[in-house]
Amino acid sequence: MSQFDKTQVVDVLNHLLEAELAGVVRYTHYSFLVFGFSRIPIVSWLRDQANESLLHAQQVGEWITTLGAYPSLGIGALLDSHKHDMSAILQESLATEGKALDLYRDLLRLVEGHSVALEEFARQMIQAEELHAADVDKMLRKPGEVRAFAARND
Ligand SMILES: [Fe+2]
Repeated sequence: MSQFDKTQVVDVLNHLLEAELAGVVRYTHYSFLVFGFSRIPIVSWLRDQANESLLHAQQVGEWITTLGAYPSLGIGALLDSHKHDMSAILQESLATEGKALDLYRDLLRLVEGHSVALEEFARQMIQAEELHAADVDKMLRKPGEVRAFAARND
């Protein structure tokens, strides 16, 4: 198996680490701002997402040091739209998670055919992020609406 470009792979992994850490902060922040009757399950869902982002950040960080590189201490973009209705929160989540998904796809392209373990990791993360996006898309639909939310602007 030929070698992959380590500099490029570490660069993508560091961007992913920053994006996942931004997710931890973003979901935790959102979870403080949920009011109304459905607060309890929504807060719990948002905190689950924060925990999942932290787990992803830790897995990505471990890969960076496995490759003998230094993990970034930075954090990805933290936009605060100051719109705290669930629809705005979920749409922001779809957009930012979409960017992380693109980075995992970049990772897969860089390691495909070069490292079984990193390839497997990238595929697992792509699957997790796609399933997450599918869930958020369903949450953005009105009851009885089957058409995907993401397809609405097609
Ligand atoms: Fe993630």
